[in-house]
Amino acid sequence: MNILLVGSGGREHALAWKIAQSPRLTRLVAAPGNPGMAKLCETRAVGATDVAGLMALAREIAADLVVIGPEVSVAAGLADAAAEAGVACFGPTAAAGQLESSKAFTKAFCDRYGLPTGAYRVCETVEEARAALDEFAAPFVVKADGLAAGKGVVVAATREEAEAAVEDALGGRFGAAGARVVIEEFLDGEIGSLFALCDGETSMLFGWAQDHKRAFDGDQGPNTGGMGVYSPAPVFTPELVEQVRTRLVEPAFAGIAADGAPYRGVLFVELMATKDGPKLVEFNTRFGDPECQALMLRLDSDLAPYLMACATGRLSELPQPKWRDEAAICVVVAAKGYPGEPKPGGAIRGAEDDLGEDVVVFQAGTRRDADGTLRAAGGRVLNVCARGATLEAAREKAYGAIGKIDFADGFCRTDIGWRALARGPK
Ligand code: GLY
Repeated sequence: MNILLVGSGGREHALAWKIAQSPRLTRLVAAPGNPGMAKLCETRAVGATDVAGLMALAREIAADLVVIGPEVSVAAGLADAAAEAGVACFGPTAAAGQLESSKAFTKAFCDRYGLPTGAYRVCETVEEARAALDEFAAPFVVKADGLAAGKGVVVAATREEAEAAVEDALGGRFGAAGARVVIEEFLDGEIGSLFALCDGETSMLFGWAQDHKRAFDGDQGPNTGGMGVYSPAPVFTPELVEQVRTRLVEPAFAGIAADGAPYRGVLFVELMATKDGPKLVEFNTRFGDPECQALMLRLDSDLAPYLMACATGRLSELPQPKWRDEAAICVVVAAKGYPGEPKPGGAIRGAEDDLGEDVVVFQAGTRRDADGTLRAAGGRVLNVCARGATLEAAREKAYGAIGKIDFADGFCRTDIGWRALARGPK
């Protein structure tokens, strides 16, 4: 099987790492990839939103399958172009991708099909937003409508902060993505990330994890794309998983098909486990980043057949995926300043060394100098992942590995997994 994998983050490095282990693989090409991925497969300098360039590359390598990593490729219509060219593609069409690319679309979708989520208002002007804020109590949740790399969500403790977030978004901080804002009810509970595959008709759960959205220890600081995850996460009791499947996953796939855009790919359900059951925080139309990194460490099954089956309508032929009975953790090391203005160019040493058994470092925002030096080139830079018999064991390995990496301009949270550890041993 020849596979074109699109993207350049830690999520795509993890997907490349897992796909590269497939006995079915003939050739794996990543576009644009990153320096870590370049050690696993061929990389080509074609951007994730260059749909024409990606389709030309797919033809050149006789790709049997295009695998979409990031949401920007979904929104750019890569799956639509692949369908037109008759190339199998793991990833939804731009129409189905609105479940991520427009928060206003998703809220209306939830209303239409009865999916549980928080109350909300969609606003196009600061005046409308001020009136909407009057209907909610602190903490206020303000979201840019469109794609903002996980940085378009502000949970504001005060009305002043909420108004500043509204003015920021509507004032152009996120470009067209902030042309509208969604003001929504703050959902109280424990956060969770659940993944489900769909081939347009058949769906299948595909793992779950818990993310840490805030930049700093103790869940302090601004929201980020995710500072670390672990899987499995005890918040996902069998009862919660079943509720998410029946109340969110299946209605979402049925609804989007009824809208004329059957879903092919992975749906990421970010949910709040509230006292009234799971409520949707948001859908994402791709694997989570860094959730994917921890899931790939735990996935025992070959990934490639699942990706291909989603793309070709054959998911019903596959068994449930097998997961290792171990814990996996991913700790994000970000450049200082992230998620605001990450400091670029910091030298990184030791990240590509052997850092211990069951420790894998996926690269995200990195670049390599001509002399081989690895440097920071983005906000989230490294994903230090480890697997262990327990979460404690995995965590010890991951933080031990971070201690061996020399990246003076980086920082990480030191408390990834705190909720599970606070519950005590299983
Ligand atoms: N980790 C959250 C996300 O991928 O959006």
